[in-house]
Amino acid sequence: MSNKTSRRRFLKTGIVAGTGLAASNAVAEGDPLITQKQPWNQDLGSGVDERPYGMPSAFEVDVKRRSVPWLTADPVSSINFTPLHELDGIITPNGLCFERHHGGVAEYDPASHRLMINGLVDKELVFTMEDIMRFPRENRTYFLECAANSGMEWRGSQLNGCQFTHGMIHNVMYTGVPLRLLLEEAGIKSNGKWLLAEGADASGMTRSIPMEKALDDCLVAFKMNGESLRPEQGYPLRLVVPGWEGNMWVKWLRRIEVGDQPWHHREETSKYTDLLKDGKARRFTWVMDAKSVITNPSPQAPILHSKGPTILSGVAWSGRGTIPRVDVTIDGGKNWNTARMSGPSFDKSMHRFYYEFNWNGSDLLVQSRAHDSTGYVQPTKDELRFIRGKNSIYHNNGIQTWHINTKGVAENVEIS
Ligand code: MTE
Ligand code: CO
Repeated sequence: MSNKTSRRRFLKTGIVAGTGLAASNAVAEGDPLITQKQPWNQDLGSGVDERPYGMPSAFEVDVKRRSVPWLTADPVSSINFTPLHELDGIITPNGLCFERHHGGVAEYDPASHRLMINGLVDKELVFTMEDIMRFPRENRTYFLECAANSGMEWRGSQLNGCQFTHGMIHNVMYTGVPLRLLLEEAGIKSNGKWLLAEGADASGMTRSIPMEKALDDCLVAFKMNGESLRPEQGYPLRLVVPGWEGNMWVKWLRRIEVGDQPWHHREETSKYTDLLKDGKARRFTWVMDAKSVITNPSPQAPILHSKGPTILSGVAWSGRGTIPRVDVTIDGGKNWNTARMSGPSFDKSMHRFYYEFNWNGSDLLVQSRAHDSTGYVQPTKDELRFIRGKNSIYHNNGIQTWHINTKGVAENVEIS
């Protein structure tokens, strides 16, 4: 770095740090929160036995999963959404991971759980949870995005909040056994080219998965973020299919059948196919393309100050690799700035970005644009519609726009 650049950088940082961020004159004005005793330092707090399983502060009650009533025909076959605007970093806390189930949450004793491998194998096997725990395990962090995430936005901006437009995603560190090891234990016959993964819940969820993917990076996972899977996420065992659409991540995994061709079940024919402009549907579009969204500010998280130093924050991910770069605009795409990435950059995992700027208090049109490690750049919604038309549901990874008015209130809009 030349002297000139380093000096310029120093000055730039200096400006942000020295803008007198309302670290106000509270002391001089005698703020009672500083000068007087408060209940929390006069009375003793609760003891160690009162929270055997810790919960968030009572002041965080709004940080929760939410559903959209008109999308919920029946709660046991529905969806709720991750509150992305309330989170930071890259990990989704277990209690906030969005839920999608087609037959309610199956709850049962792990001692009663069995995983069967059958079909084109040398020996058909049945594993108990104890058996699975005796295979070498791995820890890996991946996003899971439902193929229907942002699906309501194909015809125009609709839902007002990134929780609803983008919240069918979570990012979790899984502990699990590589599926490859279990398949090798059974021995795959030479014509075994596909797997059928089946859930133990009432929905009987089944998906066909090509053998190359199964042998590459799939996990049979039993822990999320260090603790056992939550019932909502498939306790005691779920399939992890990194970078591929959430529907394939079969929860309550109970059976894997090895076959020589795909099964063409409901979830890969009438559902989870991509309608094209000419009325034909594309099948087996498994990979989730690069996508990003600004989580703050956003409709549920307005800017609360009138102008000055402002932090824009968001997340980006790609089913094809990592996210080396995210661009951010605050003027509807006239000027693009490179965002600052912060936090670990794992393969097929969420990435966190920030853009710090001095808000002059006028209207903003904010957007983010992800670049992934293959060189792919997140498209605009119009670019997607040019190929897919407006009647699609799945795989909408178009650029999201929020309009921020002079009061800091944000709204879901589209610009072309
Ligand atoms: N697995 C089973 N057994 N039953 C289900 O209903 N839903 C699928 C998938 N696996 C489902 C399932 C869908 S559509 C998605 S998007 C993800 O699980 C959601 O995972 P989550 O509930 O952990 O967010
Ligand atoms: Co889904």
